[in-house]
Amino acid sequence: MTDRKTAAIILAAGLGTRMKSDLPKVMHPLAGRPMVSHLLDSIATQDPDRVVAVIGEGMDQVAAAVAPHRTAIQVERLGTAHAVLAARQALGDFPGDVLVLYGDTPLISPETLARMLDARRGAADPAVVVLGFRPADPGAYGRLVTGADGGLEAIVEFKDATPEQAAIDLCNSGVMAIDGTCLWPLLDRVGNDNAKGEYYLTDIVALARADGRACAVVEGHEDELLGVNSRAELADAEWIVQERIRRYMMDSGVTLMDPATTFFSFDTQIGRDTTIEPNVVIRPGVTVGQGVTIRAFSHLEGAAVADGAQVGPFARLRPGAMIGEHARVGNYVEIKNATVEPGAKVNHLTYIGDARIGAKANVGAGTITCNYDGFTKGHTDIGAGAFIGSNTALVAPVKVGDGAIVGAGSVVTTDVPADALAVTRAPQQDLPGWAKGFRERKSAEKAAKQKKG
Ligand code: UD1
Ligand code: MG
Repeated sequence: MTDRKTAAIILAAGLGTRMKSDLPKVMHPLAGRPMVSHLLDSIATQDPDRVVAVIGEGMDQVAAAVAPHRTAIQVERLGTAHAVLAARQALGDFPGDVLVLYGDTPLISPETLARMLDARRGAADPAVVVLGFRPADPGAYGRLVTGADGGLEAIVEFKDATPEQAAIDLCNSGVMAIDGTCLWPLLDRVGNDNAKGEYYLTDIVALARADGRACAVVEGHEDELLGVNSRAELADAEWIVQERIRRYMMDSGVTLMDPATTFFSFDTQIGRDTTIEPNVVIRPGVTVGQGVTIRAFSHLEGAAVADGAQVGPFARLRPGAMIGEHARVGNYVEIKNATVEPGAKVNHLTYIGDARIGAKANVGAGTITCNYDGFTKGHTDIGAGAFIGSNTALVAPVKVGDGAIVGAGSVVTTDVPADALAVTRAPQQDLPGWAKGFRERKSAEKAAKQKKG
């Protein structure tokens, strides 16, 4: 245990040019929320005292996403050391340990952050702990130059590296844990005499070594250090996040028939013994109970599904859909802002919006709640045990009482009393022999035409 405090600085002033986007890079979502929020969640596990995000001018969306944490604005982008210095006023003198992270490297795990802080607080008292990794392709990453004892001596940017240094496969992820007492003094000494003419944060390692302070490397896995600079890398990161959530779901007792085609959100909650069939997309705000079956090709967002319910195939649950215990929502059914009470069935080709479907009610194929008149939304209330015949239009606001039956094809515009039958279709007329006569007349006409032609 230690009583040292932790702070974090997130560098997010980058323009993200390669994203070709109007959205700041760190606002692009992974599993349904901005990548910077994923990073903040990871940081939160380390119980930081202060968090400051360094952003560019006009990045109000990022400031809103990191609130209530503070933001500092880096006006000119003169390099990573310059970016950290932009946080100086907001962070102030901080005698604890300072984590520096990149907003576009959001997959870092809490375990890795904890290992870095442990190393920072270890017996060697390193001034700087750098998170290193050995990527399959070291590309243009900075290289970590280590000494005979395994300690870190310097970080050399690829553009400034000698051939020998460029051959090092241990690379700089960019993540650092720095002794707060020497952070600002070290940064004040960083110059810009290098290939890019930038103030490199990485230079603080050699400066600390020159002062006789130790520096150290903690190694992490490439999967959690992926940087997002392009849409292709965004897709790679999305896949890594989805794989993590899929694994978590299966470990918690959820059956995924085809994990690779099941997509979750950061906040999806699912109970045990629930089965999810292939090609299901779950957007934010979804809670699913135990023993539920979500059948293939369903799309859920902002919905709650209670224990034992069945949804799909091809169902769409939109925000505010509340599906009760053992209720059924079948194929080509869309439900929005509506409660389907326990045991109710809405099985085929139906739109239910702004409504309550009472317990054990049965809604026939092709039922539509006409909830919108072009100006306002109306509510439809269907009582417990009611039976709505196929192809019924319920023009809201309207109520169907408990146990009532609505005849197929009805257009219901006024409330139906409990246990009543409502039918609005025109009475049926039968004309005996009419069809036979019609066919004979038409055949004769056709034959006469063909003879002429
Ligand atoms: C940096 C490291 C390199 C490391 C690599 C890992 C330095 C000098 N180099 O290189 O060793 O291998 O990351 O990805 O640190 N940023 C600002 N303001 C600036 C400059 C950068 O906020 O003035 C932010 C960027 O938005 C980004 C991060 O800092 O989130 C890294 O900047 P970037 O320019 O991508 O550094 P690299 O050249 O990739
Ligand atoms: Mg980079």
